[in-house]
Amino acid sequence: MDETSQAREIFMVGLRNAHAMENQALSIMRPQLERIENYPDVARRLQQHIEETEGQQVRLENLLQSFGESSSTLKDAALSVVGSLAALGHTVADDEIIKNSLANFAFENFEIAAYKSLLVMCQLGGFGQAEAVLRQNLDEEVAMASWLDGNLSAVTERFVSLREAGASANV
Ligand SMILES: [Fe+2]
Repeated sequence: MDETSQAREIFMVGLRNAHAMENQALSIMRPQLERIENYPDVARRLQQHIEETEGQQVRLENLLQSFGESSSTLKDAALSVVGSLAALGHTVADDEIIKNSLANFAFENFEIAAYKSLLVMCQLGGFGQAEAVLRQNLDEEVAMASWLDGNLSAVTERFVSLREAGASANV
């Protein structure tokens, strides 16, 4: 394989992995949203990011197609690191909302790292047509990570005060 096709193959694998990562993101967020009862701010932001993530997947699919890659192979991709991060999510526990807040923050930062790495591959391979899509996805992950970061103290305070009041607090 020459250098050009090597760079292209590396990038295509990266894009397919990103698509699998977004599948994982949806499988983490959707069950959380279904279970939330006492944290409407978290529910609203999760709903928004689920919709953003669905859009990210469409953009990745279109990008792969523009490189002549079939999207039928996408469902086969798997990421073990993401899988183990995901295991942190949707745990049924007394402090489920806290565990999910931590797992979501970890996952969003994983996604940020993934898109930053893809942008480097994109630049090295000269695939300028992919840059806008990758930046758009990256920006949405950065915004979500930042929201989770900013909301961590509020969600923790609410959890503690609900628990102290003897109210339902875990989701
Ligand atoms: Fe995300």
